[in-house]
Formats: sequence, structure tokens, C-alpha cells
Amino acid sequence: MDNRPIGVLDSGMGGLTAVRELLKVLPKEDIVYFGDTGRVPYGTRSAEIVTQYAMQDINFLLSQGVKMVIAACGTVTTTLPKGLSDQFLFPYTGVLYPTVRAALKATRNGKIGVIATATTIRTGAYERELMRLNPAVRVFSKPCPLFVPLVENGYVDRENQVTRLVAEEYLAPLRKEGVDTLILGCTHYPVIAPIIGDLMGEEVALIDSGKAAADYAKELLEEKALLAGRERNGQCGFYVSDSPEQFAENAAMFLGGSFCGEVKKVEITGYPDSFRADSL
Ligand code: DGL
Repeated sequence: MDNRPIGVLDSGMGGLTAVRELLKVLPKEDIVYFGDTGRVPYGTRSAEIVTQYAMQDINFLLSQGVKMVIAACGTVTTTLPKGLSDQFLFPYTGVLYPTVRAALKATRNGKIGVIATATTIRTGAYERELMRLNPAVRVFSKPCPLFVPLVENGYVDRENQVTRLVAEEYLAPLRKEGVDTLILGCTHYPVIAPIIGDLMGEEVALIDSGKAAADYAKELLEEKALLAGRERNGQCGFYVSDSPEQFAENAAMFLGGSFCGEVKKVEITGYPDSFRADSL
């Protein structure tokens, strides 16, 4: 039993889609969320910069006494060198393995589409992980660089013509390939899942990477006997690197309900961008 909070990070607000699911599957857990809103997007940056930012984000969460870290960000997950995350002494998960596992369970025709940021698609990580776990599947990837700015700017309504037009262009090739499963490989994308679903058709299973990571985190905590043992429901603390007001205004859209938490600003650049050996 462990009542310390779970740490969740993202480049901005997308990771809240994982928090939304954590609140459902682990309602007793406290959560500390960090959204790097001052430096979003990560998905257009080099691997070196994303790794440096991710390390600062993780060091901030560790400074808050978290018991595990969830990188609820496709870009961080696929960019952070595995040699580094394998050495972490604290429980850690990104979105890659849980999402791939869910996609392989969902597919019937073995044709899986992956949409994510340009940086994530460039790493080829989704394709590699899918093929590693099932070499028979065929993978079709498509970077969707405009989705994160559209979502961060609130262009999320199901009838939003701008987002629909952009989505139509991105998704047409995947539809043509006949994928029956589509990985939403960026945690911002579940917010526009209704638009993506409309365009792909209801027979295509959409795999929400935030949800997959939350489900997997639950399994990890159970396995390590680290679940919180308390009667009351968990509490969430939110930290950002830019305007707390703007975060609070838009958070409900990602959480799928109302938002009434406290949001604090952090000087994230003050945190180390590497790990001391004893904190790994
Ligand atoms: N939510 C992040 C992801 O899952 C968005 C990346 C970005 O900041 O561009 O990739």
C-alpha cells in the first residue's frame, strides 16, 4: 500500500485525457499533473530537446514525492531513450506498450493505422513495437502535426469545419488502406475522437493512448502492491509552465467534465535536465 501520488506529465494539456481515465480506474489515487504549457508543442522538436524537457518534467514530478511516473505524451514516450527509462528506479510507463497491446487486441484484419505527432512518427517506435509483438500485422502511419495546435486552441467541436477538413486530409490515406484499428498515438487526439470516428467510420476501433496508459498503470501498481489504501477519493494537483488561468479554462474539455482544481505555475527550467545516478 502506498498513498503517495501518481505523477503524470505531458507537453501541455493532452495528458489530461490519461488523468480522465485514471480518475475512473483508480479513484482513490492522488495525482500530480505537470503540463509543460510554456514549451508545448514537443512534437515538432528534435529528440535531444524532447529528452531534455522530459527529464526536467520527470525531475519536477519526483520532487513532488510521486510513487510512479506516467509519461502521458506519445512524443516523450517514443523519444526518451529506452536505455534511460529502463534504468529508472521508480515505476514508469509511457503510452507506447499499453497502446500497442490494446490495438493488437482490437484488430481483426491485422491492418493498424497510427496517427501521432511528426516527432513520434519519425521515431518509428509504434511500428517497431507492433511488429515486435505481432510480426504479421501491417502498419500504416501518418503524422498529424496540425492536430495539437487545433486542440490546444479549442477547435474541438464535432462540427468544427476547420478540424474536420484537416482530419479529412490526414485520414483519407488510412481509410483507403482499410485499417480496422486506429491508434491515437498522441494524448491530445482523444479530444477530437468524435471527428476522427465520423471520418473513419464506426467499424474502425479507435485506441486512446491515454486510456491504455491509465489501464496499464493500474496493473503496474497492483502488481507492485503500490495502490493507495484509503477511504477518501484521491485529489489532483496541477502544475504548468505557463498561464494557470488558461489551463484552468481549457481543462474541462480534456477531462470530459468540469474542472475545479488548483493550478500552479512552476519554473520548469530550474529542474535538472539529467538524472543523478541515485535518482534514476
Ligand atoms: N500530447 C503530446 C503527445 O502525446 C502532444 C505532443 C506535442 O506537444 O506536440 O505526443
